[in-house]
Amino acid sequence: MTAQQQRTGTPLTGKLAEYRTFFSTAVRNPRMVGAATPTSHAVAATVAQVVPSTGTPVVVELGPGTGSLSDGIHDRLPAGARHLGIELGADLVAHLRENKPWLEVVHGDAGDLKAVLADRGIDRVDAVISSIPWSLLDDSAQGHILDQVTQALTPHGAFTALTYLPAERTRNARRFRGRLHESFDEVLTHTTWRNFPPILHYLCRRPLAQA
Ligand SMILES: C[S@@+](CC[C@H](N)C(=O)[O-])C[C@H]1O[C@@H](n2cnc3c(N)ncnc32)[C@H](O)[C@@H]1O
Repeated sequence: MTAQQQRTGTPLTGKLAEYRTFFSTAVRNPRMVGAATPTSHAVAATVAQVVPSTGTPVVVELGPGTGSLSDGIHDRLPAGARHLGIELGADLVAHLRENKPWLEVVHGDAGDLKAVLADRGIDRVDAVISSIPWSLLDDSAQGHILDQVTQALTPHGAFTALTYLPAERTRNARRFRGRLHESFDEVLTHTTWRNFPPILHYLCRRPLAQA
């Protein structure tokens, strides 16, 4: 039983529990969460295409939140795949552990990606899906996490980052875009309008650090 259920005595299930957990964490930690509500199904459907549907891939979500992207990724992954989620928010971690038992949830910081993988005997990963608030991160945090990602990916691995379209003109967002072009051989973008606010997806392949 969650802390919320213990407080109210009323089981909160499904979407209501998800939105309450997400929103209350966002109110307490606005810069960590960077959004008021989880992302939409339309975003999740696009993101899921980034992960391999064959073989035995290892994929990592940075900032899974309440898992709004995780279901689509899980449905697409073949048997034998590993699906890890690294999440900073303690309540969000508890929500994930209760509601997504198939997800290997790590309560930790995306900046420790390499150490998290090493602890679990994982050398490289095939895809990293990130929805951490990149445009709110300072220069050094942004660079550090992106370095961890490029070092963790296989040479043909894929990285996707979600950012809010209206934030794209900010200095931090422009710096992030520049970094992606320096770090990957291919950087494509896609906009999902069926989300409030609209989401800009970056899809990056072939990390240059591996070249
Ligand atoms: C915009 S929310 C996205 C949540 C979810 N993936 C979605 O699409 O609805 C950002 C998430 O990243 C998490 N986060 C922020 N910084 C992080 C970090 N350095 N390491 C791990 N998670 C982080 C937040 O706690 C939050 O759950």
